[in-house]
Amino acid sequence: DRIVELAPSILPCDFGRLGEELQALEEAGVDRIHWDVMDGVFVPNITIGAPVVASCRRYSSLPFEVHLMIIDPERYVGEFIDAGCELITVHAEATRHLHRTLGLIKSLGARAGVALNPATPLSAVEHVMDELDVLMIMSVNPGFGGQHYIESMDAKILAAVALREATNPSVKIEVDGGVSEETIAGCVMNGAQILVSGSALLAHRDNLGQAVNHFHQLAT
Ligand code: DX5
Ligand code: ZN
Repeated sequence: DRIVELAPSILPCDFGRLGEELQALEEAGVDRIHWDVMDGVFVPNITIGAPVVASCRRYSSLPFEVHLMIIDPERYVGEFIDAGCELITVHAEATRHLHRTLGLIKSLGARAGVALNPATPLSAVEHVMDELDVLMIMSVNPGFGGQHYIESMDAKILAAVALREATNPSVKIEVDGGVSEETIAGCVMNGAQILVSGSALLAHRDNLGQAVNHFHQLAT
């Protein structure tokens, strides 16, 4: 796989034509699909559940990652794996037993990720780095697309890379929120390996292929 992967968020997609939207994204050359699942409790918004992901599975051959912005995510990791997600990312702030939840995800055969809200220190994952496949740094406060990238997260990305190097070099660093033409180069320079983009990428829905190429170029 590429050095830096581009994972479009489904949030700006037309939820009435998700299958076609996924086909267009795959056609345009994105690397994986980022499903933003919200429960209206952990974040002040509700999106979709596992049945929607499952019904979209046959419209795409790309890897599906799910970003669970829900409380007590351990209740649903199995459903999202059955729906066809290979990477399950939970919020450290949303479960009382993060180490156990990561073990559950791995025991079910998926890769495990942890997302940290902007204010949450990296120390929240310090003792589970060996259980992680992906560490996702939120560069916006979760719940909505189209927000501005929080500049101070640049330093947190750098620190996340240092933590990875010091504990488990196989962990990939992902950045989610406000990733656009203006912020991609900085993210990648600081060590981001998977970039989530929603509004900035889908703003170019009329020439998606060209936009994906441009985003990939900015990320090299
Ligand atoms: C926010 C989501 C992000 C968001 C990204 O809660 O986790 O994935 O949809 O969208 P943009 O790129 O518009 O910030
Ligand atoms: Zn997300």
